Amino acid sequence: MKLKIDTRFSAEQIAVRANWILVISAGFLGYGHIDSSTAIAMAGILVLANGVAYKACADRDKYAASGATVCTAVRLLYAAIFAFNVVSNLWLLSICSIVLEAFVNRNNKRVCTLTAITVLTCAGASLLGHRFSIGAFIPCAGIVFGVCAGLWLIKFITQNEQLSAASRRLNSLLQCGTELAASSELTATMADTLKFAVHETKASCGYIMLLDDQKKDLLVTETAYGIEGEFQFPEQLEVGTGISGYVAKLGQPISVSGSGSEHNEFDASTPGVKAAASIPLSVRTYTKAGQAAVEQILGVMTLLDLETSDSFADDDMELLRTLGSLVSVAVSNARMEERRRTTFLLTLESLATALEARDEYTRGHSQRVCEVSMMIGEMLGFGAEAMEELRIGTILHDIGKIGVPDSILNKRARLTDEEFEFMKSHPVIGYEICKPLMLSEGVLMIIRNHHEKLDGSGYPDGLKGGELPLSLRIVCAADAFDAMSSRRPYRNVMDANTVLGELSKGAGSQFDPVVVEHLKTLMHADRLLDLYRAYWGDIELKVA
Ligand SMILES: [Fe+2]
Repeated sequence: MKLKIDTRFSAEQIAVRANWILVISAGFLGYGHIDSSTAIAMAGILVLANGVAYKACADRDKYAASGATVCTAVRLLYAAIFAFNVVSNLWLLSICSIVLEAFVNRNNKRVCTLTAITVLTCAGASLLGHRFSIGAFIPCAGIVFGVCAGLWLIKFITQNEQLSAASRRLNSLLQCGTELAASSELTATMADTLKFAVHETKASCGYIMLLDDQKKDLLVTETAYGIEGEFQFPEQLEVGTGISGYVAKLGQPISVSGSGSEHNEFDASTPGVKAAASIPLSVRTYTKAGQAAVEQILGVMTLLDLETSDSFADDDMELLRTLGSLVSVAVSNARMEERRRTTFLLTLESLATALEARDEYTRGHSQRVCEVSMMIGEMLGFGAEAMEELRIGTILHDIGKIGVPDSILNKRARLTDEEFEFMKSHPVIGYEICKPLMLSEGVLMIIRNHHEKLDGSGYPDGLKGGELPLSLRIVCAADAFDAMSSRRPYRNVMDANTVLGELSKGAGSQFDPVVVEHLKTLMHADRLLDLYRAYWGDIELKVA
């Protein structure tokens, strides 16, 4: 686990530097008290040992493999050598060495063992020199007292660090909750939350999987994050397979340690996993009035540790559960909002169809404009997203006619100038109706600007040339083509050659010339005949 190693790595480097100070201190304390050959041998051993520890700390991978053990052994050697030299008060330095060990590892059991070995060494050395004198035990008592004071200091520092970490974690959690509650970009916010979870739990990577809307027993990865960048993760997983699938099936959080675990248990996708934690994303729903709420599983959040197997402690799992609850509510709200939006959109589409169906001359207009536009879009290589934009935009493009009185809308004669001015307000009315639906800019533009012309003489905004995106140019041409190819109370369907002539005349000024060419190709290929004959019978749309 990279972050964990970073922290210890830094503490270890401080400890190695402190050890050099201990060697120098030993020189001063021992000067005149120890004979020179012993002092040289002692200094040699300590310098050599600390050199090895220094090397072990220089490389992160080596430190992770065996460096930590080497460094602990060096501190034990320091403590033992100093403790053995009781006569020159070098035992005082044993305290420093043991406190250093406590500072680096924060492991009380290890510190107690180290202290016991040091005290026994010191006691043995004292007894050898002083023969059962009470004074022989003073260094031992001093070491125990000094170590206790050091440990108390470390506990105090640790508590402060834990408080700061808890406070920081709480603040970040609140920020995450606020962002998720206010998010309109769910996937991006889920990615941020996952990133926060990975860093806070000091994991290596993680992913959020949601249950597929159609196949309810299939988990699909929505977002993934790795501290070191890209990593392998499952794109899909069946419910009941791997840790994620099992959590989705069980509905309970699970933490798995690496020892004895098989690769399959870790979703069988990411190599070298040592530990994993997975929590369900679920919300309580009420299926029927009067019945108890049931837990509905929406997906899972899984974190992996590629460095150590002792990760994901209780407080990490608690944090993940809280984050999981926040993500679940956000996912549930987003899906509810999406359903509401889809329902409203379908209602509007039905309304647009019903509005046109009332009049025999406008019946099927939006549907035909939609089909013609999508044929041209396909010829121009539009992607799935652009095609969907074209579909929604064309179906809704005349929805603003809801705001136009029937006396104008269904008038059998040509409109007066005043009536035509009123009719011209329908794109803006449609835009105002659809604006709160969070439709894409492209769709809203089709609704508002489908009566614009390339030369800027259209309405309502007088857009010109490059201001008209390609999808809008398609709809403008398809809309005009449909008007010419449809019957009116005051005229019959125009014949194909007249339509072709009108299109050619408008190409470059009213319509996009490329779109017109594609429309002509469709007409020459008789691809529009069936569509129009379904409405107008045996019309003369066939090019002569
Ligand atoms: Fe229109």
